[in-house]
Amino acid sequence: MHRPGATNPDPLRGTAAGPAPDDQAADHLLADDALLDLSTDIAGKDVEDTLNRLDAELVGLANVKRRVREIAALLLIDRARQRFGLQATRPTMHMSFTGGPGTGKTTVALRMAEMLHALGYIRKPKVHTVTRDDLVGQFIGHTAPKTKEALAKAAGGVLFIDEAYYLFRPENERDYGQEVIEILLQEMENERNTLVVIFAGYPDRMETFFSANPGLSSRVAHHIEFPDYTHAELCAIADLMVAQENFRFDEPATQAFAHYLERRMTRPRFANARSVRNALDRCRLRQAKRLVELHRPVSRTDLITLTDSDVYGSSVFTDAPSEGAPL
Ligand SMILES: Nc1ncnc2c1ncn2[C@@H]1O[C@H](COP(=O)(O)OP(=O)(O)O)[C@@H](O)[C@H]1O
Ligand SMILES: [Mg+2]
Repeated sequence: MHRPGATNPDPLRGTAAGPAPDDQAADHLLADDALLDLSTDIAGKDVEDTLNRLDAELVGLANVKRRVREIAALLLIDRARQRFGLQATRPTMHMSFTGGPGTGKTTVALRMAEMLHALGYIRKPKVHTVTRDDLVGQFIGHTAPKTKEALAKAAGGVLFIDEAYYLFRPENERDYGQEVIEILLQEMENERNTLVVIFAGYPDRMETFFSANPGLSSRVAHHIEFPDYTHAELCAIADLMVAQENFRFDEPATQAFAHYLERRMTRPRFANARSVRNALDRCRLRQAKRLVELHRPVSRTDLITLTDSDVYGSSVFTDAPSEGAPL
């Protein structure tokens, strides 16, 4: 059986050469009564680094983090089994990430790619993100080449299909999306291929998509849900983002931003952590304007501090709630 990256203890560091020949692997097999210290797997440290980064960079998402750790453990044990020559099918790693906008799906996909690469499952730690328009052609005969081009770009890494349900248009039976799904099915089955496909999108529409395409669903081994963030989590995300950018909220600004989020969460097009990031960008704009208009020398403290007036300048505090996504 061909198991990409499986036979060489350090197969993929900087190479795309594929697995070592089987005879070489046989040299490295452990005796049946050997003991293998899992912490000696050189992938272990990189994986731990990635998992720690996931914990440090992302607020909340406890179930997502737990699932990512489980997947890491599964692959680490699979590598250990290979050292003893224990044959098994390569674990399937196609996934679905369901959740609203701004819940961390793209961010986690990037970390997942790093982790799968560290574990020798894929050849490169890269995510190639596509949507329907990158896969489906306008005319007959255009879809297969487009899809194959996307697959070629993603080869050896992760193909991330955002809003995957747009591939499926049940109301139009001649839709070329169906052709994409068929090509994907073949590609996902192909054992010789190290491509991992992640389908992402809103939970309810993904549910419909998978029930209409059971073949796809059955090839997806890991369904991971990304819940909307609570108000407290959004506040913590804001603090993290502010600190990452070398800013800080003064005390009134912290209160003001919590107040801002309460209102923003109920407005149209609220997009979880993405809305937090956008709101902070606008706070920075208002801070800059405020500082320039001071017409006096500014201190380091001035430059790093966001005040409540930088927050209360937002239109969520002035406009009627029906007026759309606020600035
Ligand atoms: N739990 C979180 N903690 C901190 N930042 C987050 C979290 N979730 C998302 N973000 C940030 O919010 C933004 C949007 O996240 P993203 O991964 O693009 O979401 P999605 O793909 O689900 O729309 C990114 O800047 C990301 O870093
Ligand atoms: Mg995304």
